[in-house]
Amino acid sequence: MERVALITGTSSGFGLLTAVELARLGYRVIATMRHTGDQGALLDAAGRAGAAPLVEVMRLDVTDAETIERVVSEVMSRYGRVDVLVNNAGFALGGFVEELTMEDWRLQMETNFFGVVAMTRAVLPIMRGQRSGTIVNIGSVSGRVGFPGYAPYAASKFAVEGFSESLRHEMSPFGVRIVLVEPGAYKTPIWNKGLANIRTSPDSPYGRKLQAVLKYSERAAAAAPDPRQVAGLVGRIAVSRSPRLRYALGKGARLTLWGKALLPWKWFEGVIRQALR
Ligand SMILES: NC(=O)c1ccc[n+]([C@@H]2O[C@H](COP(=O)([O-])OP(=O)(O)OC[C@H]3O[C@@H](n4cnc5c(N)ncnc54)[C@H](OP(=O)(O)O)[C@@H]3O)[C@@H](O)[C@H]2O)c1
Repeated sequence: MERVALITGTSSGFGLLTAVELARLGYRVIATMRHTGDQGALLDAAGRAGAAPLVEVMRLDVTDAETIERVVSEVMSRYGRVDVLVNNAGFALGGFVEELTMEDWRLQMETNFFGVVAMTRAVLPIMRGQRSGTIVNIGSVSGRVGFPGYAPYAASKFAVEGFSESLRHEMSPFGVRIVLVEPGAYKTPIWNKGLANIRTSPDSPYGRKLQAVLKYSERAAAAAPDPRQVAGLVGRIAVSRSPRLRYALGKGARLTLWGKALLPWKWFEGVIRQALR
C-alpha cells in the first residue's frame, strides 16, 4: 500500500526539502504551494534525488478554506489515505508591537496558526478513520522563547505549541501522532522575506532597538546551518513508530531552551539583552 504525505509551503526552504526527503523514503508526496508556477526548484531537486515520479504539486493556500478542501478531497479520491501531514507553511513578520497594524497581526495568525488548525481539521477524520497517521507541525524555538521585534511570529508559534500539546492528548487513543519540530535559525528564504517586510518608520522610537534586532537576525541567518537537517528529521519522525512530542534542533536551540528552563528569568532576560547589544 502506497503511503501518502501531504505538505504545505513546498515552494522553498524546509517544505521543498521535506517533500524531496519523504519522496526519497518512498512516500507519494502531495507537495502543495500557493503558486504552482513556483514548482521549478522543487521538481529540479526531486529530479536530482531520483524522486520526481513520487512528487505531485497541487495549489493550496493555508488561508483559503476552499483550496484546502479541494486538495484533501482530490487526494482521498485518488489515493484513499493520508499517512503524514506536515504543517510547514509560514512566514516571519518582523517589527515592534506598536508599529504593526492589526491587519499584520491577523495575517500572521491566519497563516502560521489558523492555517495549521484548518489543515489539521481537514485530515483528522481521515487519520482517525485509518487509526493511524502522523502530523508534524513545524514550530520554532520562537514558539518557546519570545524575542523583541518578532512578537507576532512568537505568538503564532506559541499558539501552535499549545494546539499541538492538546491535540496530542486527543488523538493518541486513535493512533494518530502529533509532533512538534522546533528549529532554531536555518538558512532558508524566510529571513530575506521577513527582513524585507519589516514595518517601521524613519522617526520610530524603536529605531535603535530595531537596528540591533536586524543585525542579530542577519548574523543568525548568515551563520545558520543547512536546512536539510530539518527535512532529514521530519523523514525520521515520519517513519518512527513512537515519535516524541517535541524535537528542538539547530545552532543554540537546545541551549536557549535549557537557559529558559533553568536560569532565573532576570538572568535569562539579561542574556537576550546582551545578545541584542
Ligand atoms: N528558517 C528558519 O530559520 C526557521 C526556523 C524555525 C521555524 N521555521 C518555520 O519553518 C517553516 C518553513 O519556513 P522556511 O524557513 O522554509 O521559509 P520559506 O522558504 O520562506 O518557506 C515558507 C513556505 O511557506 C509558504 N507560505 C507562506 N504563506 C503561505 C500560505 N498562506 N499558504 C501556503 N503556503 C504559504 C511559502 O510560500 P511562498 O513561496 O508562496 O511565499 C513557502 O513555500 C515556517 O513555518 C517557519 O516559521 C523556520
